[in-house]
Amino acid sequence: DDATVRVLRDLAFDLAREAGELIVDERPDALGVADTKSSEVDVVTVMDRRSEEVLRARIAAARPDDAILGEEDGASAGTSGLTWVIDPIDGTVNYLYGHPFYAVSVAVCVGDTAREGAWLPVAGAVAAPELDRTYVAGHGQGAEVVDRAGRRRPLAVSGCKRLELALVGTGFGYEADKRREQGQMLASLLPRVRDVRRAGAAAIDLCFVAEGILDAYYESGINAWDQAAGQVIATEAGALMSGMPGLPAGKTMAVASTPKIHEALRGCLFPAAR
Ligand code: IPD
Repeated sequence: DDATVRVLRDLAFDLAREAGELIVDERPDALGVADTKSSEVDVVTVMDRRSEEVLRARIAAARPDDAILGEEDGASAGTSGLTWVIDPIDGTVNYLYGHPFYAVSVAVCVGDTAREGAWLPVAGAVAAPELDRTYVAGHGQGAEVVDRAGRRRPLAVSGCKRLELALVGTGFGYEADKRREQGQMLASLLPRVRDVRRAGAAAIDLCFVAEGILDAYYESGINAWDQAAGQVIATEAGALMSGMPGLPAGKTMAVASTPKIHEALRGCLFPAAR
């Protein structure tokens, strides 16, 4: 019900904020790309782990019956039917380089997060500390962005009506084979839109759609933790979201856009399904 969603949304907000502050305040000085070549991956993993540990401990204390699915430590079971889906640092490569587009993503989902299309986020928050933005939404309650001073702004998608005029975000996985496929999809889209951005953090991309900074975002092979919080934020701001032909947004594909360009965008991404 509404009251529960509000409680979950507020908790997601506090948790994302807290972990967001942690990863900024305690970002190791030695994280410069040039001088950490041999250990850079380890250093990032340490901060990912610390952030996830804090999130897990807070969730276990406040919501002991809920399950948790996190990028670093996998799944832990619960009995309530709710699963917290968390990405302790989304945009890890940006974080490593000191590029400000990284975030902590915290969502609460109903359904089975292990099965494609069988889960739905009902509340979520994305804290992007270096952008001074924490995005938050609850199902049926709209989406907003809050700055450090506590100023709140409601979110709404842009008014984009034509794919040719759309600024479209996307993302790529880390595997070469996957990237070859993603490159082909991008090649067919690029001549048909205003331009394309690759910001490096799926959670922020989805929030940018919610805020009207992007008109659309898509990515194939996206993980639940990169997507869940951004999904409820984008849809509450008026975006349409879908997945592979005939499926809701899920692990294999996420497409988010203003309502008017959704079909045209899908037609471009899945020409065979038309
Ligand atoms: C990655 C980012 C990136 C997206 C990748 C994700 P991570 O998450 O969200 O933008 O394109 O698919 O894996 O690894 O930085 O948490």
